Amino acid sequence: MSHHDENVIAAVGDAEVDPIEKQAVIERRAKSRVRGLNHHAYYCTDAEKTRHFYEDILEMRMTIALRIPEEVFTGKEAPYCHFFFEMGDGSSIAFFDYPDFFDGKPPFEVSTVYHHHIAVNVDSDESIEYFREKLENEGYPSTFVDHGAFHSLYLRDPNGMNLELCYSPPATEEFFLRAERVAQDELRKWAATRA
Ligand SMILES: [Fe+2]
Repeated sequence: MSHHDENVIAAVGDAEVDPIEKQAVIERRAKSRVRGLNHHAYYCTDAEKTRHFYEDILEMRMTIALRIPEEVFTGKEAPYCHFFFEMGDGSSIAFFDYPDFFDGKPPFEVSTVYHHHIAVNVDSDESIEYFREKLENEGYPSTFVDHGAFHSLYLRDPNGMNLELCYSPPATEEFFLRAERVAQDELRKWAATRA
């Protein structure tokens, strides 16, 4: 962990986490009405290039590809393709190749690879390095940052979408439990500086 990151998470501290507190969080999650990510959908500039990136490089199988003749809400004729790539928990990253609505430029002008991103879990530090190398060989540069609680690889997909591949070591669970204790207070303090 870099010196900078220690400052960032200073408020979270490193106090012990009670097993009862841990159990309460497990039960709260089990009861949550919002169950998890189903899919994240984004515009795409080139369907085959996108397929190659997600299916061949990141090894996420394409499970759905639908050619749809009209716009869903208006019924107006506007053919597009909507396609999905599967992650290990059954959720997906999906794309629209939508010529009537999308001019080929990224829909968000993001100044850095850190802003407005989607982060997906990978299973190990080894996998981070495995993908970093594979991406590099395919012409996709990436930046690795060790945040302590998260080991993150930041990159841009062929559609200009910021993607973070993220490994959370087992100790990260404890970080979440401690962070929750101060979250409300931290946000209040932040809001006060913005008032
Ligand atoms: Fe992130």
